[in-house]
Amino acid sequence: MKLLFFLSGSYTPLAREEVISLLDTYDIKYEITYNEGQLLLLNVNSSELDFLFRLGLTHFVLNVIIESYIDDGIEKILSDIEWSSYLNLDRTFKVRAKHKDSSFENLELLIAKSISKYFRDKIKADLSNPMDEINGILYGKRLIIGKKIPERSKKDFNKRKPQLRPFFSPTSIDPRIARAMINVSQAQKEVLDDFTGTGGILIEAGLIGLDIYGIDIEEKSVIGTITNLSNYGISKFDIKLGDAREVLDMFERSFESIVTDAPYGRSTKVDKDKDKMYRECFTTILDSFEKRCVIGLNMEYPFDELGFYIETIYKFRVHKSLTRYLHVLSK
Ligand SMILES: C[S@@+](CC[C@H](N)C(=O)[O-])C[C@H]1O[C@@H](n2cnc3c(N)ncnc32)[C@H](O)[C@@H]1O
Repeated sequence: MKLLFFLSGSYTPLAREEVISLLDTYDIKYEITYNEGQLLLLNVNSSELDFLFRLGLTHFVLNVIIESYIDDGIEKILSDIEWSSYLNLDRTFKVRAKHKDSSFENLELLIAKSISKYFRDKIKADLSNPMDEINGILYGKRLIIGKKIPERSKKDFNKRKPQLRPFFSPTSIDPRIARAMINVSQAQKEVLDDFTGTGGILIEAGLIGLDIYGIDIEEKSVIGTITNLSNYGISKFDIKLGDAREVLDMFERSFESIVTDAPYGRSTKVDKDKDKMYRECFTTILDSFEKRCVIGLNMEYPFDELGFYIETIYKFRVHKSLTRYLHVLSK
């Protein structure tokens, strides 16, 4: 089947890697057929795609019905679609359309008319709570029409913004980015966060059903993380008070994946010898994960000098005094 991922416009390269990493995690074979701007089109060899609900930086996923060019004549393209393969009279539907770099305006209406005509006006539209949604996307002259794959509410990410959590820190990572970091780590079973902070990463990992483990050197962060996890209904976790350098002794094992946002040096415990602290903590991290590790920092760090393999570094500006660098690492 052919799928279209409509990726986040603000973090497009990370969003793309999130999709690919998730497909790899679940052993789905794929072939990329188009990869431009926010559009990622893939052929996949499976229809078992429930795991796609994990995605944080994809706006929506479509099961592609047609892929064409408007030059081919839009009425002709629409009249060739066998809508009964995608919609049915017992269900309600809605049409949405997106245009980018295109002067073509009435795509939504044309698709809706084509569907109504096909079903001889017997199919019911429901604009507020449809059972099925058809999307048309026009990028320049490229036209893609697909049926939206049902998703869990993306709006819930907004309810988990750092400032809405009971325990809050202004440097905490946006939940969509935290989710993408977890997916890029290819975790399927569990995640460890070595610098738990407010628990932003662990909340996202817990909500997708992973086992979660955390460690933080400050008691208030450990208590705050537990409060935040409980606030979002997560009851199974293991959060320890301690130093990231001692993680192997404290848990007595390594972990499938590590996802963390390292301290940036604002706390007094970090300031004294930050370079030494980074070196020692990251060396311990190298021995504590099996698959991949994703580490956020406020600078590019030479992880390769410690023995990591640096797969990619994603850089993005959080605000005027903070640029975050996400290091995707393996061994
Ligand atoms: C989540 S991280 C980073 C968040 C954000 N980047 C920042 O700088 O505030 C910050 C956390 O790391 C913790 N921390 C600092 N040094 C640590 C260490 N050696 N082991 C474990 N946790 C540590 C701090 O207590 C703090 O809660």
